[in-house]
Amino acid sequence: MKTRFWILLPGIMLVLAVTLLSWKDIQKGPSIPEDVNTILSNSCYGCHSTGARAEDAVKALDFKKWDEYKATKKVSLFNEIHEVLEEGKMPPEKFLNKNPDKAPSAEDKEKIMKWTKEETAKLME
Ligand code: HEC
Repeated sequence: MKTRFWILLPGIMLVLAVTLLSWKDIQKGPSIPEDVNTILSNSCYGCHSTGARAEDAVKALDFKKWDEYKATKKVSLFNEIHEVLEEGKMPPEKFLNKNPDKAPSAEDKEKIMKWTKEETAKLME
């Protein structure tokens, strides 16, 4: 009886460690804050989310898979998101001509760009 406990101990420790880590993950909450996500879902999700018809866009950036991206991938995407917004490259002009209501306001763009900068800083810590 006694020996069996010592054999099981590493297993028990592992389960405890995994539970603790996933609890920390849960506490972190969703990685895309709700106010940012609202803007993204209005202006970007139509092309940049799993199941969207724009295959190239989904391949380049899939916001539904955001939590699965590695930190290095996130950093480079944050950079690109910041850039396309600053340059007004996204959403594409053609799309906005047809869907003017999907255009992010100047304030919306600022909010997303601020988010990309803050999160990049956190990831680089
Ligand atoms: C009408 C579809 C459409 C919408 C809406 C759209 N995109 Fe894109 N996006 C694309 C396509 C297609 C690509 C890949 C091909 C390319 O680069 O043009 C892309 C590429 C990107 C890239 C990769 C870098 C690059 O320049 O290729 C980023 C970052 C990006 N989009 C961000 C956004 C953000 C942020 C929004 C919302 C504000 C958005 N996109 C809205 C179609 C879209």
